[in-house]
Amino acid sequence: MPASARNALDVGTGNGLLAAALRERVPSVTGIDIDAAVLEYARAETDRVTWLQGDALTYPFRPASFDVVASVATIHHMPDLESTLARLAELTVPGGVIAVVGLARSTRPIDFVYDLAGLVEQRRYRRLASSWEHSAPVVWPPPHSYADVRRAAARVLPGARWTRLALWRYSLIWTKPSL
Ligand SMILES: C[S@@+](CC[C@H](N)C(=O)[O-])C[C@H]1O[C@@H](n2cnc3c(N)ncnc32)[C@H](O)[C@@H]1O
Repeated sequence: MPASARNALDVGTGNGLLAAALRERVPSVTGIDIDAAVLEYARAETDRVTWLQGDALTYPFRPASFDVVASVATIHHMPDLESTLARLAELTVPGGVIAVVGLARSTRPIDFVYDLAGLVEQRRYRRLASSWEHSAPVVWPPPHSYADVRRAAARVLPGARWTRLALWRYSLIWTKPSL
């Protein structure tokens, strides 16, 4: 998070957990989700975030209007990976940051090693915590592989930091070059 961040967007906010957490650090946070029902949970949680129902790919935000554009477990719901990443970049101010935690499909031996670690971790979490039941559609398996994500990020977000995580996830952090 840039220390100077004044506003943030959570794309595919779901029940709004990330947006509410961002609001602890940033004065203005918007959470957008295409699904009206999940937003009801978010609205019930806090009114300190601006909740929007709509498609993040087409919603009429002004370009370059957010210091932080974040998204968790959402971009595999969207039809085209590269144009989704390009849309997130379009919404980010120069010097701002995109932070994505995404899900992808395993295709290479190393992916399956991470998957195995994920299974162990998932068992541990299931013992420690309850899971969130939501009404939003589930997209599984993800349409793109981890390798696809790395390639798309290299093309659309050059210099992005890509990290493979357990629990079937990866993270992408990219700072938009200043003008
Ligand atoms: C798996 S949920 C993740 C929710 C939340 N980010 C989390 O981590 O708990 C994916 C969310 O993305 C939303 N979504 C899918 N396509 C979208 C789009 N084009 N614009 C906005 N939200 C979208 C779905 O409605 C769903 O709530």
